[in-house]
Parts: sequence; structure tokens; C-alpha cells
Amino acid sequence: MDRETNRKFYLETFGCQMNVVDSERIVDLLQGIGYRQVEAADEADLILLNTCSIRDKAERKVYGHLGRFKPLKDRNPGLILGVGGCVAQQEGERLLEKVRYLDLVFGTHNIHKLPDMVQEVEGRRVRRIETEFLDRETRLQLFPKRAVGDTVSRFVTVMQGCDNFCSYCVVPHVRGREVSRPSDEILAEVCELAAGGVREITLIGQNVNSYGRKEPGEVSFADLLRRVHEVDGVERIRFTTSHPRDLSDELIDCFGDLEKLCKHINLPVQSGSDRILEMMNRGYTGQDYLAKVARLKAACPQIRLTSDIIVGFPGETENDFAATLELMEEVGYADVFSFLYSSRPQTAAAQMPDSLSAKAKQDRFDRLLALQEKISRQTWAQDVGRVLPVLVEGESRQGGDQIFGRTTWNRIVNFQGEKTLVGQVVPVRITTDFRNSQLGEAA
Ligand code: 5AD
Ligand code: SF4
Repeated sequence: MDRETNRKFYLETFGCQMNVVDSERIVDLLQGIGYRQVEAADEADLILLNTCSIRDKAERKVYGHLGRFKPLKDRNPGLILGVGGCVAQQEGERLLEKVRYLDLVFGTHNIHKLPDMVQEVEGRRVRRIETEFLDRETRLQLFPKRAVGDTVSRFVTVMQGCDNFCSYCVVPHVRGREVSRPSDEILAEVCELAAGGVREITLIGQNVNSYGRKEPGEVSFADLLRRVHEVDGVERIRFTTSHPRDLSDELIDCFGDLEKLCKHINLPVQSGSDRILEMMNRGYTGQDYLAKVARLKAACPQIRLTSDIIVGFPGETENDFAATLELMEEVGYADVFSFLYSSRPQTAAAQMPDSLSAKAKQDRFDRLLALQEKISRQTWAQDVGRVLPVLVEGESRQGGDQIFGRTTWNRIVNFQGEKTLVGQVVPVRITTDFRNSQLGEAA
């Protein structure tokens, strides 16, 4: 037993909220077999990377990191090195072949097997790999249950996987088919979190808008929101991510009706060109998208939108790109997460001819950033001088006596205040807007 309780693990997480939640599960499971988490890789007996393969750059990062751990492994042959998440799912055996000093690989559906895998590697110094996809029933049983933590804001998974097959996207290939978790279970978890002090719930999934549609008798996502809204103790609700095609009128109305629902939606448009949207297999046109945005703004005039946009999709012309810029101006996004197109294995777009030079793509990317910079600055500058409700989350990284929280639009605000305010919604006058946060004073 002693040996076990002394063992330490180091875990690094890349990518989206799904991986963040999976990593919490990994921590729980490893603690269950006597491991303790440490912040420095060179103190650890077990090093795990929970990886992302959404773009080539994210994937390459994994190999870079593994290289960094090689000297540790040389010094300590007992050290166990493992890779999980989306790169593990995508690469499987190839990872073990390419990285000779890697001990274990576990895919996105195999996190529950980690304790057994680790113990096998420990005892017998074998290399282990598990990357099989599980059936629906098993996945529903294994849905990550969350331990109550001490944070003000928590993610709750409502669905996993994705059936959309956007032509550029690796997610359906590395996360598998869509499954929605039963609403009663979600509600039970939200109640437990709220009773434990959590004030903000973010419902997460690859496409929350299609929640429940494939489960007979399940409620819609809008109904799920209404039920979460009734839970005592929950002050704020957010959700991510939304597919514009599946954004129903019923859900749009929630922004007008549900007081606790934050007035922000990330509604990834990906492109403003109908031709490119079609090639992306997105299932809507620029006009369809703008019509939904108009309805959102009508239902909730204070709403702010953010978006994801891909620049340089195969065959994107200057005209296509101009349509994207035009749409951005029309919507007036508060922020945009923009990405250079990256060809991904197994995707349909990987087969499409792509003749645009890297320089031309970069040039478009820079123009998009410059435009968004202007729009963002105009949006966020409107907050200066106003008093906004801020949900306080903790001590500020800025140090001093500052604490921080977020506005309804998910903007971080730092201000002077007592730590006893953590977990409360307090009025704060915004004094300065920086590029990624705001400074304020208690009002
Ligand atoms: N290349 C570039 N960006 C991508 N995204 C998804 N796949 C790719 C890809 N192959 C972006 C999309 C998505 C966000 C999470 O990542 O904009 O919304
Ligand atoms: Fe998340 Fe997609 Fe990256 Fe996987 S590939 S971590 S699902 S963003």
C-alpha cells in the first residue's frame, strides 16, 4: 500500500471543455488507485497528456511535449508515460510505434480503463493501448459523474460525440457518435453542484442544440435549460457549443425568458460564403444564419455573440472571404476565434483541392483579425462607465487585493474587493477595457 500512496502523477490537458471534463475524471480515477497529483513533471511517477487533434498544430504540440519528457524517462526508467484524448484516438498504434518510450495510449471512450492499464504497466512493464469505441448503452453508463469541487463555476456534460460530419472536422472521428445523457441525471448533478456551492453551470457538448433529439421521450435542450433554471442556488447558466442549423426558435426565446441565462452565445458561423458553407456541409446559408442572429437580437437586445471562423478552407476565393468579412460586420461579433484551415485525417475536406498559398491564407487571416479587433474594441468599450453585475470567482491573477469575476458576456473583470465576495454577484463599475479583460471598481 505504501508504494501506491506515494505515487505521483502529472497531467497536462489540451483542447476544449470536453477534455477539461475528461481530465477531471482522470484525476478522480488516479486518486482512486492511490496517486497524488503534482504540478511538476519531474516529480512524477506517471505523466499523462490529454490531447487535442482539432488542428495539425495542436497535434504536433503533443509530439513536442513527449520529446520534452524523454530525458526524464532516460533518467528514471520506472516513469510511466501515457497519451489520452483525441490524438490518442486518432493515432492509436502509430503513437506507440512513433514514440518508442511511450507506455500507454487511451482513447476518448476508454478513460475508465486507465486505472487497470496503469497498474498493469506498473507491475509488468508492458505497453498498453485501448482505443475502441463503445456502444451507446455503455457510454451512457460511463458518462463522467462529477465530484463536487470548490469552484464557483462548473461544466456539466449533457452530450458527447457528434454526428454532423462538417467536412473539415475530425471530432466525429475521434469522439464518436452523438449520445445525450438523460435529463434526470443532468438535473441531479446540477442540484448536487448547486447545493455544494456552485453558482454558475455551463452545459457542454459538441452540439448542445441537438440535445435529446435522438433519444425517444427526452426533453429538448430548451426544456433542459428551463429545468436547470429552476434549480435553487444556480445563479447563472451558460452553454456551449451551438450549431446554427440546430438553434431552434424555442431556444432563442430562452434568452428573453430565462433571467439566469447569460446574454452570450457562441454561434460558430465558420464562413460567410454560401459556396464554402455548402462545401463544409454546414446545412445553412449566410442568410439563414443572419436570420437567426436577428431573432436572437429581437428576443434579447443585450445579447452579444461570438463565433468561430475558418480562414483558407480549400478553394476559398477572395469573394468567399469578402462574404465572411461582410457577415462579421453585419453581426458585430464581440469576439471571434479564427483559425487557419488545417487538413485533418479522415475528413472529407482533406480530399478537396487546395491551391491557395500559405502566404495568401495568412494575409486573409491578418485582415480578418484586424477587422475583428476594430469591432471587438467598439463592443467592449461600451461597457466603460457602466455598472455591471459580476459573479466573483476568486482571487485575481493580477495580485494585490484584487478579485475577479465575469460579466454576463463572459468578460473577466478584475477589481479591489474582499475574498468573502467569492460566489456572489456584485455590481462593478467598469473603468478600463483591456484586450482580454476589464478593470473595475465595486459600485
Ligand atoms: N481547421 C481549422 N479550424 C478548425 N476547426 C475545426 N476543425 C478545423 C480545421 N480542420 C475550428 C472550427 C471549430 C473550432 C473548435 O475549431 O472553427 O468551431
Ligand atoms: Fe476537443 Fe475536438 Fe480538440 Fe478533441 S479534437 S480536444 S473534441 S476540440
